[in-house]
Amino acid sequence: MELNIKITEHPNKTAEKEFNQLMGIDKEKSKLLSSLTHLLDDKLIKEWLKTHHGNNLPIFEHLNSGTPLVVLEGDVGCGKTALAQSIGTILSNNLGKKIKVFETPSNIRGGGLVGEISNRITEAFDQTKRNLKKDELGMLIIDEADDIATSREQNQAHHEDRAGLNVLIKQLDLIKRDDKKLAVILITNRVGVLDPAVRRRCSLQLRFNRPTGSSLKDVLTYILSDVAPSEKEIDELVKYLAKGEVLYSFSDLIHRVAKEAIHTSIENDVPFTIQSFKSALERIEPSPQMS
Ligand SMILES: Nc1ncnc2c1ncn2[C@@H]1O[C@H](COP(=O)(O)OP(=O)(O)O)[C@@H](O)[C@H]1O
Ligand SMILES: [Mg+2]
Repeated sequence: MELNIKITEHPNKTAEKEFNQLMGIDKEKSKLLSSLTHLLDDKLIKEWLKTHHGNNLPIFEHLNSGTPLVVLEGDVGCGKTALAQSIGTILSNNLGKKIKVFETPSNIRGGGLVGEISNRITEAFDQTKRNLKKDELGMLIIDEADDIATSREQNQAHHEDRAGLNVLIKQLDLIKRDDKKLAVILITNRVGVLDPAVRRRCSLQLRFNRPTGSSLKDVLTYILSDVAPSEKEIDELVKYLAKGEVLYSFSDLIHRVAKEAIHTSIENDVPFTIQSFKSALERIEPSPQMS
């Protein structure tokens, strides 16, 4: 079966730049980094266990579910994909080891043939494991996993999706047995629909939201950095945006509003200013919220 798994080697400069350009999600960055560090390198945990408990802490067995899985969930345009694709480089630098990142194609479900979802999921894991030598560190990103990780109860009507979910769980459980140093990042744009069996296996479930407060301030400061507005102007903008019924996503602010404002400034041959950003905000509505 044909399934194009993209492989990227980390560290690389592109990923480093992408990671550094993600604004307002410092907490998410550090939580994900810490979780992946522990999943791929248990040295720290082992040392802690040895130092503080002489390797004897029975409850510890229960803490470590054995499934190297993290889930990123939340609204579109908040940096889930970009973070998953770029964090390998930071992780790799921290661990002092190369990391291979595998990505399933955007439509992991396939075209809807009988058994297709299950086959594609199995193939994704097989290809990844074939390409990961013993002792090599790897990450498998399954993006847009909205349907396959959804609760079995929610999709009673879709036998295929349920079968896909079962295969996913089985494949997750196999990683440990196969003794591969592989962490899986599952990404979904829907919140709260994860199947309990998947949820139970998560080391970390990270929720992404549209920016407010200091996150919003960070993005605006980034967008307007060469325009040098005062702190006060940024704070006013944060307040103004918080009043809106629907919030703008990170991607709305950067790829739609700022872009539009800059294009207009170019057309009129005038500088890009906080005022041009504000008037673009009036012309452009936030993208509809998914969940
Ligand atoms: N927190 C952020 N900071 C800066 N840019 C962002 C952020 N979140 C999203 N973007 C921009 O929007 C693009 C799309 O985001 P993406 O990672 O695909 O969001 P998601 O996967 O959550 O839908 C990114 O490539 C990036 O350019
Ligand atoms: Mg995405």
